[in-house]
Amino acid sequence: MQRTLVKDAHLAPGPLDAILLQGWVRTRRDAKAFSFIELNDGSCLKGMQVIVDAALPDYANVARANTGASVEVRGKLVESKGGGQKWEVVAEKFTVVGEADATYPLQKKGHTLEFLREIAHLRPRSNLFGAVFRVRSRLAYAVHQFFQERGFHYVHAPIITASDAEGAGEMFRVTTLDAAHPPLTEDGKHVDHAKDFFGKKAFLTVSGQLEGEIFAHALSSIYTFGPTFRAENSNTSRHASEFWMIEPEVAFCDLHGNMDLAEAFVKHLIRDAKEHCAADLAFFSQFVDKGLNERLDFVLQRPFQRCSYTEAVEILAQSGKTWEHPVAWGDNLQSEHERYLSEEHFKCPVTVYNYPRAIKAFYMRQNDGCAPGRETVAAMDLLVPGIGEIIGGSQREERLAELRAGMMLHRLDEKNYWWYLDLRRYGSVPHSGFGLGFERMLMFVTGVGNIRDVIPFARTPGTADF
Ligand code: 4AD
Ligand code: MG
Repeated sequence: MQRTLVKDAHLAPGPLDAILLQGWVRTRRDAKAFSFIELNDGSCLKGMQVIVDAALPDYANVARANTGASVEVRGKLVESKGGGQKWEVVAEKFTVVGEADATYPLQKKGHTLEFLREIAHLRPRSNLFGAVFRVRSRLAYAVHQFFQERGFHYVHAPIITASDAEGAGEMFRVTTLDAAHPPLTEDGKHVDHAKDFFGKKAFLTVSGQLEGEIFAHALSSIYTFGPTFRAENSNTSRHASEFWMIEPEVAFCDLHGNMDLAEAFVKHLIRDAKEHCAADLAFFSQFVDKGLNERLDFVLQRPFQRCSYTEAVEILAQSGKTWEHPVAWGDNLQSEHERYLSEEHFKCPVTVYNYPRAIKAFYMRQNDGCAPGRETVAAMDLLVPGIGEIIGGSQREERLAELRAGMMLHRLDEKNYWWYLDLRRYGSVPHSGFGLGFERMLMFVTGVGNIRDVIPFARTPGTADF
């Protein structure tokens, strides 16, 4: 007999004479003539109530079915007499597959998120994390759906790379050299990287963008979706050392087309979660973030706001707020500024564009006609309430001379980017793209406040457990 998932059992159109459920015991309550077991198999938030009659020959097994144990139940699906659920299962055969004793840490009581992080091997069995990781899975699927339906091709960017895509030097080294006794150059003074595994210095990628640009110059519209790594010592609720990023790259597309694509993409993911993860979102609305449902609806219903960096700086100056980091034209926007713009000023997602050239990456397209000292690039950041930046992107510099000037400004060595420069020598086109931090998007959709709680196993400074 085939196993039925609890989620499908809840949707049964009528009673069933025979059903097989497999899962884990959430709770058990023993009454005189029956035991009631709530079985959860992770297919949905709601468990299935299983009733085991004390007269059943298998009833002796029930005593071993503690919270956390895995069990198998064969029986009938019948209409539930109690409130709260339509169906329940009356057991005819009840087996314990794997026991769990009283040391099982997820006994039914409220646990802090911090505690649950320490038991990341068990937390997916809790309501909250089951819901988070179902939404994560569904939205990964929706990412592919969005781009595939629009004619984008999925490119697997390399994870090990020799180039720094952001030019920010926040990369993890990949090496097989013996740290205590590395091979040295002939003068004996420097590590000889030519003797390392790849014959040169190698790193974990910070972004698949540059490789994505290569493929956009061949397949027109592409996206990457993979893990990226930042050796940035940021201990915040929004930074992880390993996170997943989605990076579309589109040939023959300018900054405005890029902003339109970003907005459509974010809205698609929200709409998809609302449609396919309704019960999980209702759970988040009830227990994690009371205003979640309204916020998501609100975001879907109206166009995102757009404002230039220069306008943003004026808004901040006129806000009457005292900032921890006062902001003048040319400064990076800090999290407090980003949040003020989206949460208090615009009260909705806002795309800030045309940032000062000096604070943005070397590959961004220099805007024409800037006043001296006020050079900007065609950059954009999408800021959302509660989080701040969830997307960073730009139109890319497609002109060879300007790109080389940008690399010079950022003190990058051209010879490490020879192939990137070649794209501007052979069939260059205006092109644009962006990166969406998948975890930040999940925080936005679920209301979960810490990035450590939307990724299965968080890697942050000082932590790489499991
Ligand atoms: O703004 P970032 O650094 O942009 C890029 O990497 C570009 N190459 C993207 C592109 O144009 N193709 O990162 C993009 C997004 C951010 O907006 C943020 O959502 C997320 O990636 N992100 C992080 N998420 C979690 N932890 C971190 N340490 C992150 N750093 C960036
Ligand atoms: Mg950014």
